[in-house]
Amino acid sequence: MKILVLGSAAGGGFPQWNCNCRNCAGVRSGSVRALPRTQSSIAVSTDGRDWVLFNASPDILAQIRANPALQPARALRDTGIAGVVLVDAQIDHTTGLFMLREGAPLPVWCTRLVREDLTVGNPVFNVLGHYCGVDWQPLCVDPPTPFSVPGVPGLRFTPVALPSAPPPFSPRRHEPAAEDNIGVLIEEPASGYRVFYAPGFGAMTAALEPCFAGADCLLLDGTFWTDDEMIRLGISGKTAREIGHLPQSGPDGMIDLLGHYPKPRKILIHINNTNPILDEDSPERARLAQAGIEVAYDGMLIEGGDVPA
Ligand code: MLT
Ligand code: MN
Ligand code: ZN
Repeated sequence: MKILVLGSAAGGGFPQWNCNCRNCAGVRSGSVRALPRTQSSIAVSTDGRDWVLFNASPDILAQIRANPALQPARALRDTGIAGVVLVDAQIDHTTGLFMLREGAPLPVWCTRLVREDLTVGNPVFNVLGHYCGVDWQPLCVDPPTPFSVPGVPGLRFTPVALPSAPPPFSPRRHEPAAEDNIGVLIEEPASGYRVFYAPGFGAMTAALEPCFAGADCLLLDGTFWTDDEMIRLGISGKTAREIGHLPQSGPDGMIDLLGHYPKPRKILIHINNTNPILDEDSPERARLAQAGIEVAYDGMLIEGGDVPA
């Protein structure tokens, strides 16, 4: 299995256009040693030619240009993207769908409620109906129902509910449901390699426990270092946990939690621009390294399973 990290930042990217926090100002001026990052997306393949896109970031066109593997050039009009899986309806995960409007009808896997938010609260699917159209493929988390993506053989995907909330534009904003945000168990049956991808992971549940314990690699929410990161900076009144993100530090934070899972490789993704782990020289980054936790970067290639061609 090959996983290409197309974008490793949370909504806003890094540096964020209007932000002058220590990280954003520092990466612009060169005083902070950190890599700029685009918004949250990965691509998954077995052969390196046909890919499943997880989330369509506002930065998708730049991400495709930066990763030539996504354009195999087999015809005048071609793409390596065989289908799109959406983990939620958030802007940072869906706006890029507009940028793919020139192609064939897009097969898009998402839950019924995410589809509703993308036809009512933010009618992306309706607008795309005037261009390429969307070929919706329902995802079911109750019970978690495995699916495959035609054109990308050798992979099985199982969606698992994450406790979270629908986006601000959702008519159901204050009535969170199991389907608003999912993690996906990505399995390659031929090799047995398993990755659990959950950029919006906010809290452990009984259903998530086996995904964590059985995975070879965890790709998890790296949004915030502290629960009150945004409050301390004076840019939001909400804690990380209130908006559905588990902070890395503190009692029962991500570092503590991951300490219970010795087997998997551990990688943080969807990192907010305020997070001190972006600074490669920070003590927070050193603490992650000590705990055996990696920080994803754009262009990172994760390979596992080692199936002979
Ligand atoms: C989130 O996951 O909380 C988002 O990155 C928020 C956003 O897209 O603005
Ligand atoms: Mn996000
Ligand atoms: Zn910033």
